[in-house]
Amino acid sequence: MTHDTAKRQAAETAIRYVEEGMIVGVGTGSTVAHFIDALGAIKHRIAGAVSSSDQSSEQLRGLGIELFDLNAVGPLPLYVDGADECDGHKRLIKGGGAALTREKIVAAASKRFVCIIDASKRVDVLGRFPLPIEVIPMARSHVAREIVRRGGQPVWRDGVTTDNGNWIIDVHGWKITDPVALEAELNQIAGVVTVGLFAARGADVVVCGQDVID
Ligand code: 5RP
Repeated sequence: MTHDTAKRQAAETAIRYVEEGMIVGVGTGSTVAHFIDALGAIKHRIAGAVSSSDQSSEQLRGLGIELFDLNAVGPLPLYVDGADECDGHKRLIKGGGAALTREKIVAAASKRFVCIIDASKRVDVLGRFPLPIEVIPMARSHVAREIVRRGGQPVWRDGVTTDNGNWIIDVHGWKITDPVALEAELNQIAGVVTVGLFAARGADVVVCGQDVID
């Protein structure tokens, strides 16, 4: 089975968490694109969605799904999003698609976070996938030095500007054995907007292909 088939299976399986009349929090990425398609098929049963990126908003709008401002409708009952890595405690690395800040906000404002992945995303220890960090542009070098001091190798994602007008640093070479502590520590560096570790608030449910890990 291809990764894309497994992503579609996970997306379609996650539809079972969508209830009548809900406003659904929607993440970003290729797995979520399948979820949005599946949501389009039941759009008359939901009130609408809160989106985590311009990319997802465009797809949702194209399918005629109403978009809401999180400030007007939060907290949400459900958030569905993909991940770049997922460990055995449902802690995640996210941000491969540079949408981590809005994703973290919608996840934080949602009661249940259902993470949809294919099996290639499952790891014992987070860190094989370079950890994305969104930074204020003028802080790029400062944050990079702080990462080097902590043994990481920062690589600027040159040419990428986030939906919030910021930049992304991808950190290579970290074996993240305590993601909750690292997330808290990196959050303290001046100029860091969002760390792509979703550990303090990880997923509540992981759907991997057709398997549900509750
Ligand atoms: C975007 C993300 C995505 O959820 C993550 O990159 C996974 O993407 P995909 O479903 O395309 O593999 O965090 O910022």
